[in-house]
Amino acid sequence: MIQLKRRAELEVMAEAARVNREALDAVAAAVAPGVTTAELNGIAEDAILSRGGRPAFKGYQGASATPFPGTLCTSVNEVVVHGIPDERPLADGDIVSIDIGTFFRGFAADQARTFAIGDVSEEARRLIAATERSLEAGIAAAQAGNRLGDVSAAIQGVVEAEGFWVVREFVGHGIGRAFHEDPEVPNLGRAGTGPVLRPGLVLAIEPMVTTRSTRVIVLDDGWTAPTADGSLAAHVEHTVAITEDGPWVLTAKDRVPASAAAPRR
Ligand code: MF3
Ligand code: CO
Repeated sequence: MIQLKRRAELEVMAEAARVNREALDAVAAAVAPGVTTAELNGIAEDAILSRGGRPAFKGYQGASATPFPGTLCTSVNEVVVHGIPDERPLADGDIVSIDIGTFFRGFAADQARTFAIGDVSEEARRLIAATERSLEAGIAAAQAGNRLGDVSAAIQGVVEAEGFWVVREFVGHGIGRAFHEDPEVPNLGRAGTGPVLRPGLVLAIEPMVTTRSTRVIVLDDGWTAPTADGSLAAHVEHTVAITEDGPWVLTAKDRVPASAAAPRR
């Protein structure tokens, strides 16, 4: 069942998203060769807790046999999503996708970015840029009156036009009081299909993109999800509210449509 949020609820979600974004910004400032993903995880956890939030991923069980141990998912190179922070230092030439989730005053926020460490390959740079552009295309399609398939098709269109591949095994999702709500948001699909997007729907839109056509597998730790063939992967994500006046990118700074920014009467 799709849950629509009222304006006052969206305002709390924007606060949750701000806490989450500020924590990701603190991580971004520390990303560098030689830094371990465990260190980044500690920075994220401190930033969330000091703002009165709670890390949403830590202890999350989902379908896995073991609860997720981190505040961040840190997915290096061929890992698509759900990498577990560890003591391996990031190295020049790596790419790392950092995914972060927060609960704050009863609502969740979800965001991811992919970072290049030092000098990365031309292909890695193009992969990250295409993944970011596909998220922007998905956000641009997140208009009241459009259908969910318009968002999915917009993402897939950009990725495939760049010669890359969307991941099928993982999807975006609705988000609100629960971290994962309906509907699922696939990164591929057909325009004009699926549920109509109504004001108050909040979506975590999260393209996962690989350099080659491949399956994604899950390692024995129950979480780490690399490409089966070792091809590189990128993942970016925003939490986005549908409003009458266009998408409100809750996890971005100052991407509020005019009506949501206006004082409420
Ligand atoms: N952002 C991801 C999602 O949408 C990661 C959550 S998995 C977790 O599901 F276990 F790390 F929480
Ligand atoms: Co998500």
